[in-house]
Amino acid sequence: MANVAVIGAQWGDEGKGKVVDIYGKHAEIIVRYQGGNNAGHTLVVDGKKVVLHLIPAAALHADKTCLIGNGVVVDAEIFLHELETLKASGYLKNSRVHISDRAHVIMPYHKQLDQLREKAKGSTNIGTTGRGIGPAYADKISRIGIRIGDLMNASYLKSRLDETVTEKNCLLTHLYGEKPIDVNAVLDHFLALGEKIRPYVTDTNEILHAGIRSKKKILFEGAQGALLDIDQGTYPFVTSSNTTSGGATTGAGIPPTSVHEVIAIVKAYTTRVGSGPFPTEQLNPVGERLQKVGNEFGATTGRKRRCGWLDLVALRHARNINGFTGLAITKLDVLSGLDEIQVCTAYEYKGKKLTTLPASIEELAGTKPVYKTLKAWNEEITDLSDVKKIPQALADYLKYIEDELEVKSVLLSVGPDRNQTVELRNPFERG
Ligand code: GDP
Ligand code: IMO
Ligand code: MG
Repeated sequence: MANVAVIGAQWGDEGKGKVVDIYGKHAEIIVRYQGGNNAGHTLVVDGKKVVLHLIPAAALHADKTCLIGNGVVVDAEIFLHELETLKASGYLKNSRVHISDRAHVIMPYHKQLDQLREKAKGSTNIGTTGRGIGPAYADKISRIGIRIGDLMNASYLKSRLDETVTEKNCLLTHLYGEKPIDVNAVLDHFLALGEKIRPYVTDTNEILHAGIRSKKKILFEGAQGALLDIDQGTYPFVTSSNTTSGGATTGAGIPPTSVHEVIAIVKAYTTRVGSGPFPTEQLNPVGERLQKVGNEFGATTGRKRRCGWLDLVALRHARNINGFTGLAITKLDVLSGLDEIQVCTAYEYKGKKLTTLPASIEELAGTKPVYKTLKAWNEEITDLSDVKKIPQALADYLKYIEDELEVKSVLLSVGPDRNQTVELRNPFERG
């Protein structure tokens, strides 16, 4: 028996939602532990598509415990909307959904400030999702955040809002020339929202710790990807949380020893939404083809995703900071029919070869990828069900990635549907 973390290995949108849906059938408790509704996790079951931003992507299975951990920043309105939509579609049957009372709340002023800051930055912006993620985490770290549990305590919430709104109004009026916020209107709105979410709010630690003691199978659902990690990603072009496996422990409130398997979701090529360096980006017909065939549009903002070749320098960095125990390689079908496949094995910077990801964003932006060219395959693989039937060139591509990363594959994904998957090893059944 093992507890499993599913981690994005690149810049997000690797197919975490699909894999969490598949692993959801094995797990009893599923936990989102960081990020917020900047995430867009897509599930396709029998051709029907569902996009989840906040509720764990195992929600389509019945009889599950779905938790939103303390490390998540919660837009309470999005949560309620997502919950109602799922229930109206007949999902979450006999399932329980809980939000940690320690999770922080995304307030309207967080969204407003996120958008105003991005606008003010102009061409140097991060390209955030505008969902208020950065400002909500900033308030948490500055100890002026509002927590989910605070929404159920009117006098305490008022005192917290009085303090934080005074600061926000100063920024809004003096820096951005906007109208000040009416603290009483915010208070009334959030007390009413607090009443609506009250049935779902609890100390999720108790559920998780009881689950760990009774050896329930727990699945930790990562959002974003390793290269968007606030500490180890391509800072400042990152999100504002720890997207790595370490984030699962602090963001769910469990010890590192309770995460036994770290499954890396690796897209067979690379994509990125928003700004920031992307050494293997293909601003040419190859990139356009990947974007088109891969249907690479952001699941949250609808923006076109930037596309490029697989980057082993970035992936080795992701492996080292996460401790991958298995690879789930997705979107392999998108590569079918290419003339050849390129993989970046190192970077070149000012005549020097780099094999590790530089911390300096200027250095990273100035690198040139060193590529190895591999054979492509022509066969359609979208109905692949048996790993023995895969084309030789695809088998070679997979082996090359596994050897370079020194991690074996546990799952192959050859289409968006739940069925378009080859499961090679069940990580919950580790000996
Ligand atoms: P996440 O954020 O990591 O959950 O990924 P997204 O849902 O944002 O983006 C992944 C997209 O690729 C979604 O539209 C999925 O339906 C789709 N997808 C996932 N796996 C595959 C695959 O193996 N092949 C193809 N063609 N699409 C896939
Ligand atoms: P999933 O979970 C891809 C990117 C944004 C922007 C940067 C900061 O679906 O993989 P933020 O709004 O978080 O402050 O934006 O991070 N970003 C994502 N890119 N997938 C995501 O989530 C992302 N969540 C945030 O585009 O570049
Ligand atoms: Mg996504």
